Amino acid sequence: MSFTIAIDGPAASGKGTIARAIARRFGFHHLDTGLLYRAVGARGGDPVAAARALTGADLTRDDLRSNEAGQAASRVAAIPEVRDALTDFQRRFAAQEPGAVLDGRDIGTVICPDADLKLYVIASDEVRAQRRAAEIGADPAATLAALRERDARDSARSAAPLRPAADAVILDTTEMSVTDAVTRAIAEVRARLRAPATRR
Ligand code: CDP
Ligand code: CDP
Repeated sequence: MSFTIAIDGPAASGKGTIARAIARRFGFHHLDTGLLYRAVGARGGDPVAAARALTGADLTRDDLRSNEAGQAASRVAAIPEVRDALTDFQRRFAAQEPGAVLDGRDIGTVICPDADLKLYVIASDEVRAQRRAAEIGADPAATLAALRERDARDSARSAAPLRPAADAVILDTTEMSVTDAVTRAIAEVRARLRAPATRR
C-alpha cells in the first residue's frame, strides 16, 4: 500500500516547500496541484476543454507563477467541470508506490479524504505576501491584495472550497523558518509511518 500525504492551505503559506522537502526525504512522488489550475487558466479559451486536454508539457510554462496566473487559476478552479476533469489524474498520482505528497486546496477534503496524513498550512496574510513577493519579484502590496482576493474566492466557492479537513494537523508557519516548518512536518510523517496500521 502506498502512503499518501495531503497538504492544503491558503496561497503562499508554504505548502509546496514542505511538500517538496517531504518527498525528497522519504522518496515519495510530489504533485503541486495548483499548477494544474494555473495551466488551465493560462491556456485561455474554454477552461473545461483545457482541463480535459491538459498535458504534462502545459505544467512547465515559466509564466505560471505570477499573481495574474494565480488569479486566472482561482477563477477556473471554481468551475465544477474543470475540477472533475482533473480528479482522476490526481487520485492516480496519489496512489503511487511507495508514497505521494500532493499540495493544493482540496486534497485532504475531496481528492484524498483517506490520506495517511493531512497538513493544513497557514501563515498571516502579511507574511505570506512578503514571502511570495520576494519569491516572484512582485510588489508586496499588490501581492497582498492578490492573495486576499484569491483566498476569498477559493473559500467562498461551492465546489471544493478551501477549508481544513476535520482530521488535518494545522501548521502555522508565520513565525517559522523553512527549516522549522519542514522539521515539524517530517516529525508528523514519521509518527504516522510508525503508527500501527489501522486502515493500511
Ligand atoms: O506552496 P505555497 O504557495 O503554499 O507556498 P511556497 O511556494 O512553498 O512558499 C512561498 C515562499 O515562502 C517560498 O519562497 C518559501 O521559501 C517561503 N517560506 C516558506 O515556505 N516557509 C517558511 N516557513 C518561510 C518561508
Ligand atoms: O502557490 P499558491 O498557494 O499561491 O497557489 P496554487 O497552489 O498554485 O493554486 C492556484 C489556485 O488554484 C488557487 O488559488 C486555487 O484557486 C486553485 N487550486 C484549487 O482550487 N485546488 C487545488 N487543489 C489547488 C489549487
